[in-house]
Amino acid sequence: MTVVLRSPQEFHAWRKQQKGSVGFVPTMGALHSGHEELLKQARKNNDVVVLSIFVNPTQFNDTNDLDKYPKTWEQDLAMAEANNVDAIFCPRYDDMYPDNYRYKVSENSYSNLLDGAHRPGHFDGVLSVVMKLFNIVAPTHAYFGEKDFQQMTLIQGMVESFFMDLQIVPVATVREEDGLAKSSRNVRLTSAERLKAPAIYKAISESKTAEEAAEKLNAQGFIVDYVTDVGTRRFVAARLGDVRLIDNVQI
Ligand code: PAF
Repeated sequence: MTVVLRSPQEFHAWRKQQKGSVGFVPTMGALHSGHEELLKQARKNNDVVVLSIFVNPTQFNDTNDLDKYPKTWEQDLAMAEANNVDAIFCPRYDDMYPDNYRYKVSENSYSNLLDGAHRPGHFDGVLSVVMKLFNIVAPTHAYFGEKDFQQMTLIQGMVESFFMDLQIVPVATVREEDGLAKSSRNVRLTSAERLKAPAIYKAISESKTAEEAAEKLNAQGFIVDYVTDVGTRRFVAARLGDVRLIDNVQI
């Protein structure tokens, strides 16, 4: 039985009764099999599993993207129940931002690269909401997908910098059979765009250089925000129509 808790106060009362390790999967809803993998790992390794669903406005630099973010509450609830999630925390904006975002968490180096260079304020919004969620949920383990590798690295850094007492568990990117990384935004692709989209993964995994991958994508009509190698990973963000997709691979 999955309980649905709406306010931090309600969550806090429930949390006090839980014992043992707490595995936490923070999401913005529109759950897909990538999220399901996070839930399965959390379930396998913890006594208690918490899922949060909160479409966090402070991390959307583009209001169109925020407005069009898919909302699939019935399916999300069914997936949570099927995976024996103990509680779903789904707060409202005023619950999460009683100060209306006067206080925020920011990082001033890595967050300015890659997605940060194209989405001003995005990682401030992510780090701020994740810290709030960690403070409310008080998990022992939190699960993040490697598809959002930069996000995961920044959250790991925040946990270390602020001596937060939990473990971040990375989970490998889940892909469609044709290689497209699972993402809540994929449902917004037209059928023609959906056919084209796997070229992103193909280009970054098969090209010798980031430049070559960018050229291939440009030639196929993608609007490429970046293809960049950082350390041993290659990162990409590219648009098809008004849908922006990201991915990364080990090189
Ligand atoms: O990856 C996401 O879905 C979001 O960025 C997160 C971590 C839930 C914060 O809003």
